[in-house]
Amino acid sequence: LSVSLPLSLSLSLSLSLSLCLSASVSLSASVSLSASVSLSASVSLSNNAKVAVLGASGGIGQPLSLLLKNSPLVSELSLYDIAHTPGVAADLSHIETRAKVTGFIGPDQLDAALKGCEVVVIPAGVPRKPGMTRDDLFNTNATIVAILSDACARACPEAMICIIANPVNSTVPITSEVMKKRGVYNPNRVFGVTTLDIVRANTFVAELKGLDPARVNVPVVGGHAGKTIIPLISQCTPKVDFPADQLSALTGRIQEAGTEVVKAKAGAGSATLSMAYAGARFTFSLLDAMNGKEGVVECAFVRSEETECKYFSTPLLLGKNGIEKNLGLGKLSAFEEKLVADAMAELKGSIKKGEDFVVNMKL
Ligand SMILES: NC(=O)c1ccc[n+]([C@@H]2O[C@H](COP(=O)([O-])OP(=O)(O)OC[C@H]3O[C@@H](n4cnc5c(N)ncnc54)[C@H](O)[C@@H]3O)[C@@H](O)[C@H]2O)c1
Ligand SMILES: *[C@@H]1O[C@H](CO)[C@@H](O)[C@H](O)[C@H]1NC(C)=O
Ligand SMILES: *[C@@H]1O[C@H](CO)[C@@H](O)[C@H](O)[C@H]1NC(C)=O
Repeated sequence: LSVSLPLSLSLSLSLSLSLCLSASVSLSASVSLSASVSLSASVSLSNNAKVAVLGASGGIGQPLSLLLKNSPLVSELSLYDIAHTPGVAADLSHIETRAKVTGFIGPDQLDAALKGCEVVVIPAGVPRKPGMTRDDLFNTNATIVAILSDACARACPEAMICIIANPVNSTVPITSEVMKKRGVYNPNRVFGVTTLDIVRANTFVAELKGLDPARVNVPVVGGHAGKTIIPLISQCTPKVDFPADQLSALTGRIQEAGTEVVKAKAGAGSATLSMAYAGARFTFSLLDAMNGKEGVVECAFVRSEETECKYFSTPLLLGKNGIEKNLGLGKLSAFEEKLVADAMAELKGSIKKGEDFVVNMKL
């Protein structure tokens, strides 16, 4: 077998070819063949996803859109916001990558932005203004997420919905209830993006152990705020060990890492660049899995039967139709078991708050 044969074929044929290629490798493994397989795998998948970013002009939305525009997995990028999207889209459209970028502005253009989308990422929100109470703050973002989810139910009911907008612990139940109301709910397609917690855990563990952060993987389970963020250091790959005091400090740092950024930005907002990276990482994993790549695992906050809590983040095996299998909590240390138990009551409360919000809202 020559290298050029499988390569040129894989450009026109798709998945089935890469499957038989990998079969041929196991028959006659050689260096040149395995090189051709990894190349063909990357060109033979159907890299034609239409992705929408809702809240695309924001602190997260703009760098997230940039990362998506830079990806060969995306062929069309829909940028929706209530402000500035024509400019953001024009700017990104000059980048010499394939994805066609279109800007949509205001509620009249929302459905058009979503039409035909396979993945929708939602980093929309309204920051706290003077005089706003905690409840006002909750209600504004909750209303935005409910309205955007309702539009998804109309315009792209089958799309994977990735929610970045906070509070994730309530906005994911809100999206789910809205989709239910519209009769199009599929729990395998609604994700609360918690990837930033995993990214931070990987970085901090690598720093402490002198490892390459790109090769560290710490699952993070539970919710997406404070004490409900539960890094499972005992399941870290590679295996790492910390004395109890260091483990507890590390866990606390991961839980409160958002505050580190808010303080350092001194009034200029919260994590946006690292969040954009995390949102892009999650989206790319999802697209890879939708394209047939096997063994793609990401943690996310989803409808769950793994604990007594209706929504919970755990590692998920992703596939063509979203969640293929919930991999659950795995084996926990005593320290981690206690963190999970302590998170339950608080998490249940915020889930109920999200569900009640939709019950009382007229859509
Ligand atoms: N999941 C996470 O780990 C994580 C991390 C950081 C921030 N966040 C959350 O992400 C969200 C966005 O944060 P940001 O820093 O980018 O905020 P931002 O205020 O900079 O941007 C929000 C954007 O949403 C837009 N928007 C407002 N109402 C809209 C509507 N009805 N439809 C569409 N777009 C609308 C705004 O115009 C703005 O461009 C917030 O809810 C924030 O709390 C999540
Ligand atoms: C709502 O979104 C804004 C960003 O637009 C964010 O600053 C704020 O913290 C969010 N509100 C809540 C309750 O998380
Ligand atoms: C839900 O998230 C919000 C902000 O993101 C936070 O204030 C609240 O305490 C959280 N609740 C739980 C149970 O995590």
